[in-house]
Amino acid sequence: MFYDLARRFMFNKDAEWAHDFALGNLRRFANTPMSLAWSQSVQDKPVNFLGLEFKNPVGLAAGLDKNAECIEAFAQMGFGFIEVGTVTPRPQAGNDKPRIFRLPEANAIINRMGFNNKGVDYLVNNVKAAKYDGILGINIGKNKDTPNEQGKDDYIHCMRKVFEHASYITVNISSPNTPGLRDLQYGEALDDLLQSLKNEQMDLVAKHNKSVPMLVKIAPDVDGIQLAQIAESLVNNRIDGVIATNTTLARDAVENLEHGNEAGGLSGRPVREKSTHVVSELKRITEGKLPIIGVGGIDSAESAKEKFAAGADLVQVYTGFIYEGPELVKRIVTSL
Ligand SMILES: Cc1cc2nc3c(=O)[nH]c(=O)nc-3n(C[C@H](O)[C@H](O)[C@H](O)COP(=O)(O)O)c2cc1C
Repeated sequence: MFYDLARRFMFNKDAEWAHDFALGNLRRFANTPMSLAWSQSVQDKPVNFLGLEFKNPVGLAAGLDKNAECIEAFAQMGFGFIEVGTVTPRPQAGNDKPRIFRLPEANAIINRMGFNNKGVDYLVNNVKAAKYDGILGINIGKNKDTPNEQGKDDYIHCMRKVFEHASYITVNISSPNTPGLRDLQYGEALDDLLQSLKNEQMDLVAKHNKSVPMLVKIAPDVDGIQLAQIAESLVNNRIDGVIATNTTLARDAVENLEHGNEAGGLSGRPVREKSTHVVSELKRITEGKLPIIGVGGIDSAESAKEKFAAGADLVQVYTGFIYEGPELVKRIVTSL
C-alpha cells in the first residue's frame, strides 16, 4: 500500500531525482517511526554460503546504495543481505545527466550512471557507523580515468580499505558504463587481475585474521566460448564465487519502446532469460563447483525460483525492487 503510493509519486518524476529523493528519506528516517512505512518482518530462511550465514537468500544488488548510506533502511525491509557500491578509490561524478531511464512497458531500466560515487573512504565511514549485523557485500571498481593497465591498483586499493568491514567483496568488471572495463573479463587481462587480487586477498586474510570471500561480477553479453574461459579463470584462480549478471547491452526486447535506444545497460525483465542462461551455463561448465549469486530480471517468486533452479545459491534484485517495492523480498522468501 505504502509502496503503491510512493511509486505513483516517484514514477511521475525524473528517475534520478526519484532515486535521490528515496535514498535521502530512507537514510534520514531509518531510525525514526517513519521507518514503519517500509519495515517488514520476513521469515528466516537461513542459507549457509561461502561460510557465511545468510538470514534468507534474497539480497539487494549493487548500484542502488552506492555509498552505503541506507544500509539500516534496507535491512528493515527484510533483505537477507545487502551489497553496497560500486565504489572507486576516488570520488567521481559519473556520466552527464540524464543517465537513468525507466521503461515501464518492459519492467526495465536503462542506466549509464558511470560509477558515480563518493569514494571508498566515505563508504567505509558509513559502513562503520551503520547499526547492522547482517551480511554486507562491498562491490569495488576502478575510477574512469585510471587506465585499464593500472586498474588492478584501484581494485587493490579498494580491497585494502573495505576488507575489515565487508562480509564479502565483489570485483565488478562488468559495468558497460566505464569505457573498457569489460575488457578485463577476458584472456590474460582477466587472469592477471584475478591472480593479483587472490594474492592480495590471502595477504589480507593473514593480516586481519579474517576470511572475506571474493566474488567476481560478470556481464550477460558473453558467448559460450567466452563464458567457458571466464569460468576456467575463476576456478583456476580460486575465486570464491561469481555474481551473474550485470546489465545487458542488448536492445532487441526494447528497441521500439520510449528510451529503448538510450546508451547504457538494460536491466529488469528483458535481461532475465540471458542472466538465467549464464547462471545455468556456469553451473554446468564448473560442474557445480563455483558458488553463484543469480541476478537479472527477478521481479516475482517465480523468476527467483528460475534462478535457483538454474543453479544460483542466492539471488539479488534491483530493477524488480524498483517496480515492486519491499513486498517483493517478502513474496520471494515466503515462497521458498
Ligand atoms: C541504475 C542502476 C545502477 C547500477 N549500478 C551498479 C553498480 O554500481 N555496480 C554493479 O555491480 N551493478 C550495478 N547495477 C546492476 C545491478 O546490480 C544488476 O546486476 C542488474 O541491474 C541486473 O539485475 P536487475 O534486473 O534485478 O536490475 C546497476 C543497475 C541499475 C539499474
